[in-house]
Amino acid sequence: MSRCPYFEKKHLLFKSKPLTAEGDEDAAQAGVNKASKGGIIYGDYLQLEKVLSSQVLQSEIKGSKIHDEHLFIVTHQAYELWFKQILFELDSVRDIFIRGQVRDERNMLKVNTRIQRIVMIFRLLVDQFGVLETMTALDFFDFREYLSPASGFQSLQFRILENKIGVSDSLRVSYNRRHYRDNFKGQESKMLTSMEQEPSLLRLVEEWLERTPGLEVDGFNFWGRLEINILRGLNEEKEKIEKMPKSEDKEELMGELAKQKDLFTSLFDEKRHDHLLSKGERRLSYKALQGALMIYFYREEPRFQVPFQLLTSLMDIDTLMTKWRYNHVCMVHRMIGNKSGTGGSSGYHYLRSTVSDRYKVFVDLFNLATFLVPRHWIPKLNPSIHTFLYMAECNDSSYCSEDSD
Ligand code: HEM
Repeated sequence: MSRCPYFEKKHLLFKSKPLTAEGDEDAAQAGVNKASKGGIIYGDYLQLEKVLSSQVLQSEIKGSKIHDEHLFIVTHQAYELWFKQILFELDSVRDIFIRGQVRDERNMLKVNTRIQRIVMIFRLLVDQFGVLETMTALDFFDFREYLSPASGFQSLQFRILENKIGVSDSLRVSYNRRHYRDNFKGQESKMLTSMEQEPSLLRLVEEWLERTPGLEVDGFNFWGRLEINILRGLNEEKEKIEKMPKSEDKEELMGELAKQKDLFTSLFDEKRHDHLLSKGERRLSYKALQGALMIYFYREEPRFQVPFQLLTSLMDIDTLMTKWRYNHVCMVHRMIGNKSGTGGSSGYHYLRSTVSDRYKVFVDLFNLATFLVPRHWIPKLNPSIHTFLYMAECNDSSYCSEDSD
């Protein structure tokens, strides 16, 4: 006999409740059809009548129904629905920032969860082009004439999305030498103009980063300490290299060090930062950049873990939007070659010019990796800042009590 306890347990289970095919079936059928008792049912709840009757094939109307036009419409509609969901999440996150609710750090979990949801949706959207790519260029050619002058360029939600994340108006590629907004009329144009005035996610994150604890010059003074440590570190490196015997390697190392010195001198030069900001090469204020670098360096401190995850997710959004643009332009190239778009642009060439850092909203967060330094150059936390970074502030808490026990 086996002494295996697992076998023995399994044996007991069988004893107490015999599982037969018949028993399974009975259990599977034990239920009541609640819908028969009234109340809202699936189709009404989801308004499927409207949704599922919205696939109107222009080719069919024009008398020669083309099979793949159905897929073309459904794909675009699915994209628009997901854009809607992203905007819904984005608005809620912006609202949390606008109302100052992030000052209560427990709300950061909500912010992160929603931003991560946006990231997941974007992943889906990047891959979704693969379904449309099952349509061949010739199949598309069969119905393309029927949809002109409609074009994805006219997607209002896509533009709102770019604006709300923080694509800079001055960095946008023009469309046939004109501002993108000129292609929208009436209410849509007004809506875009007013949305450009609303604080974007970029601006809200910037304000939040500027408040990073530890930046205060009369407190921990992270930036001042970092500058001292980096200059000291670079000098120590220089002394080490100077002690080396004359060689090609030594020259190379000296050259490398000089480059490093220039790089870090530029980091601590506020005027240079402002110049890069005015050229659109940097997007965050000087103070916000300091906050972001501080979060990068001390990301393991309890208070910085969630902020660090947020910064990572913001980069994910940028990466995925770039991938979206890239996948879209590759598909467009395959579908229409170098022909102009139904909306009237040069098509592939126009779209290719949008796959660039101009559209990366959080580009500064990517560039911060340039300024990472060896761990021992990072300013050591003193006990008071360490405790501060360890314990979150407790504002308006439903869990905490003002009374001491
Ligand atoms: C066969 C498939 C597709 C082709 C050939 C195509 C082609 C084009 C072209 C040529 C443009 C440039 C504007 C123009 O002159 O019309 C454009 C822009 C655009 N398309 Fe598509 N597209 C396709 C699928 C999609 C899908 C599925 C979406 C999802 C919503 C989409 C969304 C957009 C957006 C948002 C723009 C504006 C991009 C920008 O200006 O940065 N397209 N498309």
